[in-house]
Amino acid sequence: MSIRVDGTTFSLETKNTLYQMKADAYGVLKHLWYGAKTSQDMEYLLDYPDVSFSGNIYDVEDNRTYSLDTMPLEYSTEGIGDFRISSVGIRYENGASALDLRYENHEILPGKYSIPGLPAVYAEDYEAQTLAITLKDTASDIRVILKYGVLPDFDVITRSAVITNNGHGNVMILRAHSLCLDIPYGKWEWVHFHGRWGKERTPERLPLLHGIQESSSKRGTSSHHHNPSVLLCQEGCTETSGTCLGAVLMYSGCFQAQVEYDQLNQTRLVMGMNPHMFRWELEPGKSFYTPEVILSLSTSGMETLSHQFHRIIREHVCRGKYKLIERPILINNWEATYFDFNEEKLLDIARGAAELGVDMLVMDDGWFGKRDSDNSGLGDWYVNKNKLPDGLEGLVKKVNDLGMEFGIWFEPEMISEDSDLYRTHPEWTIRIPGRQPTRSRFQLVLDMSRQDVRDYLFDVMSQILGSANITYVKWDFNRSVSDWYSELLPASRQKEMPHRFVLGLYDLMERLTSAFPDILFEGCCGGGGRFDAGILYYCPQIWCSDDTDAFERTQIQYGTSFFYPISSMGSHVSAVPNHQTGRITSIKARAVTAMSGSFGYELDLNKLTQEEKNEVKFQIGLFKEYGPLIHNGKYYRLSNPFRDNYAVWQYVSQDQKKVLIQGLIFRTEPNMLRYPIHLRGLDPDKKYRLREDGVIYSGNALMNGGILMPKCFGDYVPVELYLEAIDA
Ligand code: GLA
Repeated sequence: MSIRVDGTTFSLETKNTLYQMKADAYGVLKHLWYGAKTSQDMEYLLDYPDVSFSGNIYDVEDNRTYSLDTMPLEYSTEGIGDFRISSVGIRYENGASALDLRYENHEILPGKYSIPGLPAVYAEDYEAQTLAITLKDTASDIRVILKYGVLPDFDVITRSAVITNNGHGNVMILRAHSLCLDIPYGKWEWVHFHGRWGKERTPERLPLLHGIQESSSKRGTSSHHHNPSVLLCQEGCTETSGTCLGAVLMYSGCFQAQVEYDQLNQTRLVMGMNPHMFRWELEPGKSFYTPEVILSLSTSGMETLSHQFHRIIREHVCRGKYKLIERPILINNWEATYFDFNEEKLLDIARGAAELGVDMLVMDDGWFGKRDSDNSGLGDWYVNKNKLPDGLEGLVKKVNDLGMEFGIWFEPEMISEDSDLYRTHPEWTIRIPGRQPTRSRFQLVLDMSRQDVRDYLFDVMSQILGSANITYVKWDFNRSVSDWYSELLPASRQKEMPHRFVLGLYDLMERLTSAFPDILFEGCCGGGGRFDAGILYYCPQIWCSDDTDAFERTQIQYGTSFFYPISSMGSHVSAVPNHQTGRITSIKARAVTAMSGSFGYELDLNKLTQEEKNEVKFQIGLFKEYGPLIHNGKYYRLSNPFRDNYAVWQYVSQDQKKVLIQGLIFRTEPNMLRYPIHLRGLDPDKKYRLREDGVIYSGNALMNGGILMPKCFGDYVPVELYLEAIDA
């Protein structure tokens, strides 16, 4: 049993962790513990000082030490004396905003709950249990059901909330976070992942300062700028030691994560939809569902935490036929041609790639409507016959005849003003009446909250996808959303738009991925601007960044690896000088980096020298062998590329028999020592043979002494070493 209830103390047990809470004598649901597994009621740790200026709820009478402002709570509220960050806010018809939530009842259910209209971790009934605790406001008929999914074998707990209006009048939800996690003790630091276009998910580890720190997005997407994931670690925590916990929000829109370090040096983490971009009018009898947060904790450092997240996301967030199987090695024409292509050019690229063993041609932006630049055509999802005279069917057949599969690019949620769609349906665009809309990449955004817009997109995309043998879709989204307004919503509901937009996106993705279960969908948003667990529920891989530079990618993929599995990161070998940075790196250096993901190419391979082509053929052969280990093995960060002069990482198969070390040494110095890197996760008693020179090492030696890095000459020296266990 992973959920134990003792009176009103709730213990959620996973293999290595315990999450504990208790509804006390007043029905207030207090958080007691999230940490290493113990068999104890952890309430003994709570101490309540008499703190001036922290309020006391009415029914505790003269007990001045009982204050919601100082105790660890499971779901904080506002208006009744907890002055820290609130998780939920409700405004009533009389204009007041307060919520005093008390325990009403609970229920334990087999399996993992799901959330209507939203992505959520899924599991078989034998893998998970659900605890639903209902809290009720003392003065109104608002109820909040806190849902906890417990997946013991994964060391994962999920959280989400349902807010129900059982009263007679409408209420306004002002905020509805998915997670509130109070940690009364310890010195914690937080790591958030920031960035910009072309430079996503840079980890930043910061001490907790008194007050509030935030990582958030108001852009309509989860964004390049902050990722909806947070890591809290105890001071001194490293890759391999110390306690840390992670929270990943399964949501692709405006989000907010806040960490508050309070007057008593307690830490509160809240996470959910961004309240600045959210209101929800809740009618009597209706419920509102928050997105889900995935929580996991490790007492042996960040590496274990990453393994836990990789496993849950790969196996219980990603869905569909491709989630665990090898992905096709693809060639994408974007950086090879940009908009300037026709059938002949594409076939030329495909022929060159087929000869070297590439599995699939992906036709990127520019194949539809009037689309010779990014100023026009979005929304007109029909083939441009000037570029593709034999239509899609003709092109796809010719590509298939080369022995390759075919994939296609869409940017469904967008519209260009210069398009037939805009001329016919200007009202489908997000814009505020009486104002000029904000353009970005000269394009506008479709109102995805509208059923008619989604039906149009479903029909037109289904028609294209059904018209030829298409087995891959790249689903792009190339701007932030502003000018929020929907013609179909009343004034009181306009602030619902950012969330309704995401619900609309998920609805369309669900319909299309169900209608085309054999298609591999890859998410994209100007690279990695919507790299989140919400999108991964529909698309098992996401284009990691528009920056394809090998050096830069070591950092971007390092940051991404804290929570997201390697199989989810789309990464390609592109041309040099690199189009984003002008940097020149060898084809091998680029391949080694791109292999650390869903591997592919993004250049015209015909333009390479014969020597480079041989290397490409070799690397493709290697990826066919290493792919399963890279995607389904355990991943180890052996360096920090933001600090060290090298980025080296390692994969170990689940049975510890296969080991792959890859990476780049950045700058070479004269007379450089070949320094050793310590491997991890091996069987100390096993012997491993290095494929490259046949030398045999013990697991013990490789982990304690390390393996020597290659001799360096030139910059960005690739590292690629493969070890296999031999029978003793
Ligand atoms: C985005 C994507 C690129 C490419 C272009 C096409 O920037 O990230 O890979 O598809 O759009 O316009």
